[in-house]
Formats: sequence, structure tokens, C-alpha cells
Amino acid sequence: MTRPSRALIDLNALLSNYKKLRALHGGKAFAVLKANAYGHGAVRCAKKLEMDADAFAVAFLEEGLELREAGIHKPILLLEGVFDVKELLKAANHSFWIVVSRHEQLEMIEQCSRAMRGLNVWLKLETGMNRLGLDVSLAPEYVSRLRATKVVSRVSFMTHLACADVEGDDFSIKQIEKLINATKELDCEVSFCNSARVLSAKGPRSDWARLGIAMYGINTMPGSSFALEPVMELKSQIFDVKKIKKGESVGYGCTAQVSRDSRVGIVALGYADGYPRNAMGCSVSVDGRLTKTLGAISMDMLAVDITELENSGLGSQVELWGKHIHVSEVAQHARTIPYELLCKVNRVSFLSA
Ligand SMILES: Cc1ncc(COP(=O)(O)O)c(C=O)c1O
Repeated sequence: MTRPSRALIDLNALLSNYKKLRALHGGKAFAVLKANAYGHGAVRCAKKLEMDADAFAVAFLEEGLELREAGIHKPILLLEGVFDVKELLKAANHSFWIVVSRHEQLEMIEQCSRAMRGLNVWLKLETGMNRLGLDVSLAPEYVSRLRATKVVSRVSFMTHLACADVEGDDFSIKQIEKLINATKELDCEVSFCNSARVLSAKGPRSDWARLGIAMYGINTMPGSSFALEPVMELKSQIFDVKKIKKGESVGYGCTAQVSRDSRVGIVALGYADGYPRNAMGCSVSVDGRLTKTLGAISMDMLAVDITELENSGLGSQVELWGKHIHVSEVAQHARTIPYELLCKVNRVSFLSA
């Protein structure tokens, strides 16, 4: 028997989520595949989505190159843009769309204009996130300077929303208004809807959505009941069983003393597989029934309480998150966000072509 620990990726669910969300948004949509498609395997996800997605987005050049080398021809936007001239020329050579959010990036394009053609540029404007972006007042100047280079075939605008998934958010509307006001005279497409904004019923829509977490089946919009299918199931099996007496404990630090005689299932999956170390006492599903992890999570193992699951034992199926256990619940228990948990998963298998 091989080690039974895998993140199973349901590519049909991914495609179905993409199509539903694109329809809900009502415009075009980037499928965001950065960080190895949020841990889901960027190449396989891209291949599954390529027929239907309008374009892909990744964080940086290497991530884009991995997709091109795997034969992906669709437009790919580099969300952080390029870091130097060498990267710019490579990006142009591979027909990547690039974000420009810093003055040096504009200067690089001006400097290399003779060596490139047909660049598709997304000007990223600062509207409140204070992470990446140009001051909105610079929008007209940047558009005319880019157009003057003659190498830029298309200029569009984007901004990133800081609070789209925050309960009672009204900051997004301020950001969107700032973007729209700064660009309305410039006849360019705009992108500001991330997953949570697409799932929010309120406010204007952008020409292009950028779909990340929701495409992977996680609805982060408070109050939204829009149905999405989980794409990743993190699974393993019980490969040893211990019987321990009331008052004994399990695992490093002897942190979890049991209050009754207990049966403990040892599961072949730990924090090196992407399960958070501080998810002690978190819900897990064993053979489809709910129980909890017990004691500290080890690097490649964890323990679960199977005292009340008489029929479970050696070989029992364990789901850490997926269809029965929502990854958001694990994230909340571990005081993090589902994004971080998903993108740290490193061994994936695919359920469908
Ligand atoms: C610039 C940018 N656009 C879009 C996204 C997708 O966001 P979400 O996963 O919330 O849909 C991200 C993700 O962090 C991002 O950094």
C-alpha cells in the first residue's frame, strides 16, 4: 500500500464553478491561477479551463512560463508585472499581458519599445488597498505615454478591493467609484471584481472579473448562499490504532489528555502535507462521520478520536477538508484564511481529466 495521503482535485467542479461565476458576473473573467492555482495544480487547472476561460492570471513571470511551456496559449496576465527589462522582453516574447503599477515599469516599456510589439497592458490604480498601484491622477498621462510608444496595442485598468469579503463592507464602493471616475474619459476596459465582489449582489460590475478563491469552491462573501462545489478534498487514512486510558495523552507535548478510555486513529497526514499545525481539536470526517483531531499535529501524522466510531479503525477514510468539512472551518480553527491553507498543499491527484 502506498501512503494514502492526497489532495484530490475535481477539475469538473473547477470548470463548473468558473462558468457559474462568470455568468453571475456577466462579463469576461480571468481565472486566477497564481500560487500553483491556489495549491490545486496550475497546469492541469489551466488545461481544464482553457476552452472556456477568457484569460488566466498569475502573479509573476515564472508562473506564466510554466503554463506556456505546458502548451497553454490563452492570454496570461502577470499580476505583479515585470521586475526588470529582461523579464519585460521575455514577457513580450511569450505574449503575456502585463500589469503596470510602478513608474519603473512604464519606463522599461518606453526604453524597450523597439524590441517589442503588441503589448497588452493593465494599468493598476491605487484606490484604497495601498499595496500596488499608481495614483489615480496619473491615469491619463500613463495612457498617453503608453500609446505613444507604439508597442502597446491595448490599455485597460484594474484595481484591487481591500474589503470585498468583509461583513457590511462599504469601502469597495468607494474604491470602485474612484476607479470609474479616474478612467471614464479614457475609453478603456476595467477590472475590479474579485470573487467576493462577484458574489456580492450590490453595485456595479467590471468588464473583467478576476476569479480566484470562489472558482476553487470557497464562498467568502458573508451572507451569500451562492452554491459552489468544493474542488479540493484533503484525504488520508487511519494506518494505526491506539487504545489509551483515561488521563493519558496523545502526541508531542502531551497537550491532549483524554477524559475517558479512548480509541485513537493515527492518520498519515501532517503539517508537511499542508494541514495546519494549530488545528488541534478541529473537526474531521472519518468514514463520513464527524469527529475531532486529538493532540498536536505532527509533521507527517495526526491523531483522531474514534472512540465513538465503533466501525472505524485501520484503513478508515479520513477527510481533513472537502465535501464534509469546509476548509473555511479548518482555517477559522487555525486562525488563518482558506487561501493560505489551500496554497500550502503540495501533493495533488486529479479526479477527472
Ligand atoms: C490582484 C488580484 N486579483 C485577483 C485576485 C483573486 O482574488 P480572490 O481569490 O479573492 O477572488 C487576487 C488574489 O489575491 C489578486 O491578488
